[in-house]
Amino acid sequence: MKLTVQDLNSFYGPAHILFDIALEVGEGEVVALLGRNGAGKSTTFRSIVGLVAQRSGRILFEGRDVSARPTHEIVRSGLGYVPEERRIFTDLTVEENLEVGRQPKRANAPYWTREKLFALFPNLSEMRNRPGGRMSGGEQQMLTIARTLMGNPSLVLLDEPSEGLSPKIVEQMVDAIRTMKREGVSIVVSEQNLHFARLISDRAYIIERGRICFGGTMAELDARPDIRDAHLSL
Ligand SMILES: Nc1ncnc2c1ncn2[C@@H]1O[C@H](COP(=O)(O)OP(=O)(O)O)[C@@H](O)[C@H]1O
Ligand SMILES: [Mg+2]
Repeated sequence: MKLTVQDLNSFYGPAHILFDIALEVGEGEVVALLGRNGAGKSTTFRSIVGLVAQRSGRILFEGRDVSARPTHEIVRSGLGYVPEERRIFTDLTVEENLEVGRQPKRANAPYWTREKLFALFPNLSEMRNRPGGRMSGGEQQMLTIARTLMGNPSLVLLDEPSEGLSPKIVEQMVDAIRTMKREGVSIVVSEQNLHFARLISDRAYIIERGRICFGGTMAELDARPDIRDAHLSL
């Protein structure tokens, strides 16, 4: 397994947010984490990369237990994280933003150059010298993903990449995620939008109030409209 999460429990202060979360991501898989607003998707991602202080359970990344490792070390070991809020440097150009993410080549992960990333996100190629602050939300989202790929991760957590994007930009995002998969990046993508998730994912988990209530292939999810309707807003 690329990533295994076992018995994950997370808290914000006294509030118990995640309950015994278990997830698995195989080599090269795209796995969706589906759930309504407030279900615990972002907290799950933040817990995996060590950004939630109060947390118990095991996180195995490429067979190594990283649960006690600091965030920067987890990310540097090849687990990329693209948070919900776009974190680009508004005063830096697109190319400069990409350079910030650069890490050395990794033996077990695809290697991304600037040119490969511009092929992945053709939009960005046309605005290489533009400051990040003068880009649309969708373009900033692409830049955030591209910058994460500059770190040559073997697995990426994408937190709601389609949120707030126009249909045309969503299409480009679908293409980009498919290409990332083809290149060999394993991906966990959180989503409220089942239609988007369906276009890119091999398997899905549904999270509701901090608990995983379904795990299976997209076909198995389609065979359970009851689960889908009870736990997802469509
Ligand atoms: N920093 C925080 N402090 C306290 N509660 C939080 C914090 N962040 C999120 N929560 C709560 O944790 C629950 C899960 O939130 P979140 O993981 O952001 O859900 P999702 O990403 O699925 O929308 C929600 O009830 C939310 O209000
Ligand atoms: Mg969220």
